[in-house]
Amino acid sequence: MTISIDLSGKTALITGATGQLGRVMVQTLAQCGADVIIHYKHNQKHAAVLRAEIEALGVRGFVATADVGEYDSMMAMKAEIESNFKLPDIVVTNAVTQIFPWKTVLEEEVEDYDNQFKSCVMQNVHAAKAFVPHMVAQKWGRVIGINTEVSIQTYETQSAYAAGKKGMDGVLRVLAREVGPDGVTVNQVAPGWTISYKDRQKGTEIQESYAKTVPLRRRGEDSEIANVVAFLGSDLASFITGAFIPVNGGNTFVGV
Ligand SMILES: NC(=O)c1ccc[n+]([C@@H]2O[C@H](COP(=O)([O-])OP(=O)(O)OC[C@H]3O[C@@H](n4cnc5c(N)ncnc54)[C@H](OP(=O)(O)O)[C@@H]3O)[C@@H](O)[C@H]2O)c1
Repeated sequence: MTISIDLSGKTALITGATGQLGRVMVQTLAQCGADVIIHYKHNQKHAAVLRAEIEALGVRGFVATADVGEYDSMMAMKAEIESNFKLPDIVVTNAVTQIFPWKTVLEEEVEDYDNQFKSCVMQNVHAAKAFVPHMVAQKWGRVIGINTEVSIQTYETQSAYAAGKKGMDGVLRVLAREVGPDGVTVNQVAPGWTISYKDRQKGTEIQESYAKTVPLRRRGEDSEIANVVAFLGSDLASFITGAFIPVNGGNTFVGV
């Protein structure tokens, strides 16, 4: 008998689905048979492209928008999904508001801490309030937060991003305890600096100075992150909750 990741009959919501990693998660979960809610903030055009791509695979897609840092916006998206599609069984909180360049604590604008708090911490609070009650009611659900190796590294200039992601970690570990008895698992995937379509377009896949510190001596591929998300979303991961899984070639061994 062959074991495969089978998400048929499940509906997954990916936030930030039009971004570098989100678009591969959409494709991967659809390849596993899930119907996918493709969330975007600005990039409606690529959300429509993704929907057409996955519908060609024979699953259903639905495009939805919200500012994940705003409670009312998340709840409006929930209402739209509930009226026009299906509430998700699997929620992947992947969206992030990028700040660039990262600066030292003394130089980073105060507003950057606020927006990281909203997009990392409050996104997960809002998503839980919007979508976990349905999972609890049906006694099955998956919340998968996309964290980062940065929240373990805490190197210079990473303070706003690390603070947001460490706060998200706190919310999700507590949520795992609270909803475990109801059959809902809550886990996190923490990518390293990952190769995406942007690198492939620009030819910037190889980054020697980063790769030489990684035990597996390379950067990960976007598909390697999406594969772990698919696994955690499936029944193969039925006894895993509260986990924080670095997917970074061993670049950080602690924090699990
Ligand atoms: N890429 C990496 O190497 C890497 C490494 C470690 C961790 N991660 C984590 O992986 C996740 C995805 O990263 P990525 O590199 O794919 O990021 P990305 O390409 O910047 O995509 C993030 C998406 O989030 C959406 N977004 C931003 N602010 C939002 C808001 N307030 N409300 C709703 N949506 C919002 C944007 O959607 P629109 O474009 O539609 O506006 C954007 O496309 C993040 O959680 C990140 O921290 C990534």
